[in-house]
Amino acid sequence: MSWIRDSTLNWIQLLCVKVIKSGTLPKHIAFIMDGNRRYAQKNNVQKFVGHSHGFDKLADTLQWCLDLGIPEVTVYAFSIENFKRSQEEVDALMELSRQKFQRLLSEKDKLMELGVCIRVIGNLTLLPQGIQNLIAQAMILTKDNKKAFLNVAFAYTGKPA
Ligand SMILES: *[C@@H]1O[C@H](CO)[C@@H](O)[C@H](O)[C@H]1NC(C)=O
Repeated sequence: MSWIRDSTLNWIQLLCVKVIKSGTLPKHIAFIMDGNRRYAQKNNVQKFVGHSHGFDKLADTLQWCLDLGIPEVTVYAFSIENFKRSQEEVDALMELSRQKFQRLLSEKDKLMELGVCIRVIGNLTLLPQGIQNLIAQAMILTKDNKKAFLNVAFAYTGKPA
């Protein structure tokens, strides 16, 4: 699934966007990715499926922020504490992340057109080398973009070391 959707708002949604935009909008919104596993359990699917659907919803959400003209979004995707989950789940999450960053890079034309600057924050040395490389490519590629900022907290922690 793509990171960048073509805007698919119908006329009533476009009207709502217009109304919302006429007021004061936040300049920065943060999302904490949470509940993917609860979603999986509730719908009786594997955790991996929950994470995958969670990502798809995130892509929708980012598109809404772009439509609304919110310039900066921060996503708390994966904390250092999350590494304590089962090896199987961590591996699946890393593979999903690798695929998503790969996909993001393959959409670089759209990213550049939209002027999105991507910043990944966290202790990236904890991630597999392949993902570190993809993240570095995405950040270098988009570093001079200034229209919108997407911060992804990955291997982050709120706890002092
Ligand atoms: C990042 O993680 C490594 C491995 O656990 C650790 O040695 C290093 O101190 C951490 N860096 C920061 C800035 O916390």
